[in-house]
Amino acid sequence: MYLQKQFVQTVRLYFKEQGKEWLQDLPSLIQYCENKWSVKMHEPYTLSVNYVAPATMQNGKEAVVKICIPGSGFLAELEALQLFHKKIVQLIDYNKENGILILEKLSPGCTLAEITDEEEACQIAANVMKELAAPAPINTRIPTIMTREEELRKIVKENTNGIGPISAQTLQKALKVFTYMNHTTKQQLLLHGDFHHYNILAAGDGGWKAIDPKGLIGEIEYDLIQYLLNNLPDKGVYEVIKRRVEIFANELNLDRERILLWGYCHTVLATSWTVDNEAYNKDFFQMIAVFEKLYDDIYGIQNNESFNR
Ligand SMILES: Nc1ncnc2c1ncn2[C@@H]1O[C@H](COP(=O)(O)OP(=O)(O)O)[C@@H](O)[C@H]1O
Ligand SMILES: [Mg+2]
Repeated sequence: MYLQKQFVQTVRLYFKEQGKEWLQDLPSLIQYCENKWSVKMHEPYTLSVNYVAPATMQNGKEAVVKICIPGSGFLAELEALQLFHKKIVQLIDYNKENGILILEKLSPGCTLAEITDEEEACQIAANVMKELAAPAPINTRIPTIMTREEELRKIVKENTNGIGPISAQTLQKALKVFTYMNHTTKQQLLLHGDFHHYNILAAGDGGWKAIDPKGLIGEIEYDLIQYLLNNLPDKGVYEVIKRRVEIFANELNLDRERILLWGYCHTVLATSWTVDNEAYNKDFFQMIAVFEKLYDDIYGIQNNESFNR
């Protein structure tokens, strides 16, 4: 069975041995889905770490089958889909044991990355984000942003000389900012957890819907960082980020300073996730300096106790 190269690499990078086995099982998992739900699965979409493909049901209706590596990430996504009911792509059915989601197929389904006008795309994203607003559930397996700080703390401990292109000093500073931000968080909301251009799809009649909620609990300012890191131009990144932050802060009535601080510390974490021997995500890496400069130009680094300590 042919599998997209980048997909195979990413699954192996993030899921190691478990990922390798799962890739081998994919043909039988696809067969399982086709039998259980009486669907015909078609060529997959452009994949990252899950196998996602359009499918035709017996009654001729279209759906999407998403096969994930079972585990805590999958269960959090399933719970987030249920909690965001009606505000997001609809969940038709699922199978916990095998990590399978059967979803409504969004049509035309093009991603927000296809909207080339920066302002228009950002405005659409802000509107989709408004729809998502929901209080945090009480008994839940969905993690809080505190777990992200813990992930960074672990990376800092295990990489005393820095990781990939990130210096030890930057790692330390990002951890301080993370701690400061978590200590000063005022709102605990249910967040999407992976909100960016490729997870916002055209849903017909000019409407847009979010898909692929990883689920996270915390403040909205944090949830916007993945969007800020995606779909950037080759030149003029500083200006684009400045404008995106402005639009989100105004449209969603958010704290611009906190968006920039989360931007800085999350981007250090997100870049370190991509380090694979000599390779790393260069776009994410350059964004660390962009967030730092933007913050400094607007507020002055010396004015923030976590940046400055
Ligand atoms: N319900 C859907 N309707 C139409 N296209 C979809 C749907 N779900 C996923 N896709 C397509 O598949 C791609 C990958 O799906 P996604 O759920 O984002 O997987 P991943 O978790 O691996 O990012 C999306 O970017 C989109 O192009
Ligand atoms: Mg996705």
